[in-house]
Amino acid sequence: MEDKKLIISETEIQKRVKELGTAISNDYGDRPLVMIGILNGAFIFMADLARQITLPVEIDFVRVSSYGDHTYSSGTVSFTKDIELDIAGKDVLLVEDIVDTGRTISRLKEIFADRKPNSLRICTLIDKTERRETDVDIDYHGFRVDHGFLVGYGLDYAEQHRHYPEIHHLLNP
Ligand code: IMP
Ligand code: MG
Repeated sequence: MEDKKLIISETEIQKRVKELGTAISNDYGDRPLVMIGILNGAFIFMADLARQITLPVEIDFVRVSSYGDHTYSSGTVSFTKDIELDIAGKDVLLVEDIVDTGRTISRLKEIFADRKPNSLRICTLIDKTERRETDVDIDYHGFRVDHGFLVGYGLDYAEQHRHYPEIHHLLNP
């Protein structure tokens, strides 16, 4: 039986997403921003965050498969869907649901850096620190948690639980 415990409420998430949107909007001045959401996990965060940004924004998505089991990623990233925008010379923000080992986001950062954007930053809803294996810079994070497997607000376990408006700790995945 899957047991779960609420750790971040819908109200807390919405408040924090609004703060992030304000910070990001301030940091970029009037420069247009390309937001790249990493599917599937970032779809809800991306939708809410984008609506808190007051800059001109272009939106695109990438989908990667990172061969691993359901609770741990291998970091061998391959695209199952690439972005369609040309990001050369643009200010780009990668939007991720959760950074765990950091392998996925580090690899994506390398791949997109090769396409010569003007700038490339990372925004993750959750920065999960305990299993970090890379020293990738996370420019914006919603919440920092130490450990645990989280679901809800886009985060899944085997494609389930993504639709919850709040975030839970899955106790025995
Ligand atoms: P990383 O490459 O280890 O940083 O893994 C990042 C990816 O693993 C995320 O995009 C998620 O898909 C998945 N992941 C890592 N931790 C969790 C979690 O606690 N809940 C749901 N997915 C997670
Ligand atoms: Mg994911």
